[in-house]
Amino acid sequence: NYYAIIMAGGIGSRFWPISRTSHPKQFIDILGTGKTLIQNTYDRFLKVCPKENIFVVTNENYTSLVKEQLPDMADNQILTEPVMRNTAPCVAYGCFKIESINPDAVIVVAPSDHLILDEPGFVNTIEKSLKVASENDCLITLGIKPSRPDTGYGYIQFTDNILSEDFHKVKTFTEKPTLDIAKTFIQSGDFLWNAGIFVWSANAIVNAFGQYLPDMNDIFADARPFYNTDNERNHVNQAYMQCTNISIDYGIMEKANNVYVLPSEFGWSDLGTWASIYELSDKDYVGNAVIPSEKVIMYDSSNCMVNVPEDKLVILQGLHDFIVVESNNTLLICPRDQEQNVKKVVADVKQQF
Ligand code: GDD
Ligand code: MG
Repeated sequence: NYYAIIMAGGIGSRFWPISRTSHPKQFIDILGTGKTLIQNTYDRFLKVCPKENIFVVTNENYTSLVKEQLPDMADNQILTEPVMRNTAPCVAYGCFKIESINPDAVIVVAPSDHLILDEPGFVNTIEKSLKVASENDCLITLGIKPSRPDTGYGYIQFTDNILSEDFHKVKTFTEKPTLDIAKTFIQSGDFLWNAGIFVWSANAIVNAFGQYLPDMNDIFADARPFYNTDNERNHVNQAYMQCTNISIDYGIMEKANNVYVLPSEFGWSDLGTWASIYELSDKDYVGNAVIPSEKVIMYDSSNCMVNVPEDKLVILQGLHDFIVVESNNTLLICPRDQEQNVKKVVADVKQQF
């Protein structure tokens, strides 16, 4: 009864120009491991459930990328969205469809673009959570010990009220707080970061949609007769046009009162910044992280993050603490401590080119 949904329809704008609307981060081997992030995500779930039970939800523009990178997936396992409406519709579509296949399904929902270093630890955590979710009407989220007041995460305040083992009842869930609020959360010590990985029974999540996003619930419940038929595509496309744009975090996790968190540790990173990628990459003795390395030649250069096409001959002389990234004939050169500005610049550049 175990199922997995991989959310793979985001555009990953922070990693421009490597990650572009036409080729977002989840489809890139951003750490140079030989596999893309979505391939690694899929491989992890093969250890949790049968491969027929793994589904990917993505934008129709990325269907061919998914097929190319995950050739073992059948067409019926690749759920496509006609428009981007954030993660609530993505979760609704996946969960309502799986529910129509198996009403007793228990589902793990996960992003496609994260790094997990301790795979056995991850598999163990997911299996434990699936078991608890199969026995209780609850929404489980995995919590990570926070290390800085990052405003890009959801913050989970947990209580000592325990469902079973280490599953703590959640008191508050705050998605993407302001910096001031994030700082007070970190200081207080009873908050965890939301990893964005959720576990629940089909029943529990369908009920939650009914309660907290009733319009979206109706839209995907009305499509029930059409899931797994030739008319699914048509009906789901129409459904998406009616959906509001909202994430599962704002739409359900912040509001529901049967949320439980499992504090987890499995070498997690959401690879949200070049800094996090630099930190995790193999580096030479002067701190240069280079992907790929064959044709990048460095003289008196240190602590640089270089990510360029394989066939590109690149020479750095006297460069320290820089990001050098080329993709799609677009080159970005930026001091490592100024990457936060890239997002703004990209918005500008996109308008002009
Ligand atoms: N199918 C589909 N459709 N997938 C989507 C869409 C969409 O419209 N939008 C985003 N995704 C996918 C992304 O590709 C990613 O794998 C995942 O859903 C999460 O979306 P993000 O856009 O990366 O969310 P976030 O990083 O801002 O925040 C979430 O993750 C944080 C941890 O990394 C939240 O769950 C936070 O609470 C959490 O802390
Ligand atoms: Mg993310």
